[in-house]
Amino acid sequence: MRGRSSFLIVANRLPVDRVGEGTWRRSPGGLVTAIAPVLQRREGAWIGWPGSPDERLDPFDHDGMHLIPVPLSASEVELYYEGFSNATLWPLYHDVVAPPVYSRVLWDAYRTVNERFARAAAEEAAENAVVWIQDYQLQLVPAMLRELRPDLRIGFFLHIPFPPGELFYQLPWRRELLEGLLGADLVGFQRPGGASNFIRLCRRLLGLQHQKNEIHLEDGRVVRAAAFPISVDFGEFDSLVRQPHIVERAKEIRSELGDPECVLLGVDRLDYTKGIGQRLKAFGELLREGSIKPGEAAFVQIATPSRERVEEYMRLRDSIELQVGRINGEQGELGMQPVQYMHQSYGRDELAALYLAADVMVVTPLRDGMNLVAKEYISCRHDLRGALVLSEFAGAADELRQAFLVNPYDIDGLKRAMLAAMRATPHDLSRRMRSLRRRISTYDVDRWAKDFLADLES
Ligand code: ADP
Ligand code: G6P
Repeated sequence: MRGRSSFLIVANRLPVDRVGEGTWRRSPGGLVTAIAPVLQRREGAWIGWPGSPDERLDPFDHDGMHLIPVPLSASEVELYYEGFSNATLWPLYHDVVAPPVYSRVLWDAYRTVNERFARAAAEEAAENAVVWIQDYQLQLVPAMLRELRPDLRIGFFLHIPFPPGELFYQLPWRRELLEGLLGADLVGFQRPGGASNFIRLCRRLLGLQHQKNEIHLEDGRVVRAAAFPISVDFGEFDSLVRQPHIVERAKEIRSELGDPECVLLGVDRLDYTKGIGQRLKAFGELLREGSIKPGEAAFVQIATPSRERVEEYMRLRDSIELQVGRINGEQGELGMQPVQYMHQSYGRDELAALYLAADVMVVTPLRDGMNLVAKEYISCRHDLRGALVLSEFAGAADELRQAFLVNPYDIDGLKRAMLAAMRATPHDLSRRMRSLRRRISTYDVDRWAKDFLADLES
């Protein structure tokens, strides 16, 4: 039997999490930010997990999207999601900034859950449908789905970095993952380096020939691998921050902070890849040595709770909270704390107001597929004010050359960049911001999806 959707998104998570009877909240992370507007503008459906264990829900419509829940048991959440996806693949693909866990039990759960997603997609897809599979949690789905439904056009996009052979070789299931991805017609990466790492590994590990970005399989099929840097809904943020209530809220935020000369801002999932500790260290040292005067600057760090039962994330939370406490304890005064740390998730309006209130946006990942926060900040600054401090190790650095680029491991360099961003002239800032905005307004998320889908369907 064939299903009814001619366009299908398959992702680990649905764009909303269930938080109570009939109540939904937007799920965290860049994947959802990018893909939700793409589906809202097209006829189609989204297959994914509703965010809590043992939820068996019927398909439903939400915010202009048709959503098809795939259940995960408590043990699958532990072994497939927290385990293989986020304790094995996530650290391995992000330069092993934390040590990956290799365990056969986790791998077995990953395969089982990938099979479930493939079966759900096979049931929902109409004849010759386009199915677009997302991210590292589902790398086996392309081949499993092709086996079930050879009529489909299958695309895969990896939102995180794809590592070089030197790291990927560690993975005991390295061949299986490559073979899984090769079930797609088109495999998309954030950066050209990810695509070439993949092509090289297919040659070295599977002995496959390639011509430019086309990989030739033994059965005659051809799989293309290419870079498609993901982006944000520029228009949504650009118009949001022009609304009077957001402008008002931005002013209010500055006054709540005590109207400092400079507001620095970090917005991230609380993840060890984001370099939050490095940026706090740099800020703390600038205060301690007097480069920033007391009361001159406030650092606001918003950190969304993320993967809270994974050990490395618990450790990170403790270490960031200790660091914030130290800086405020040593450098603060009664009623004035230099770092405002919030372990919370915020709505779009509040985020937009924060972006508008911030003089310096500090984005310092140790490794990041793209980093949409950097692009959201730019989308909000139609006033051509504001400076972006951006890590060289974020995919976004390829496009955003006019940012204050930094190596986040180099704390002195980070301090210099933060100070330079704080002290830059309005003329310099507007020149940089104009060029950054030109890039993001042209290459927005719509353009990204169009480019990928046009290539997939060609
Ligand atoms: P990642 O996908 O690794 O989380 P990105 O920077 O690419 O990193 O995307 C993060 C997304 O999550 C952005 O759209 C950002 O606005 C959103 N986000 C991050 N922190 C928060 C927060 N505290 N509250 C609400 N949304 C957040
Ligand atoms: C990153 C990943 C996404 C993931 C998101 C949130 O953006 O690339 O696949 O959905 O983080 O992480 P979570 O584990 O909460 O889904």
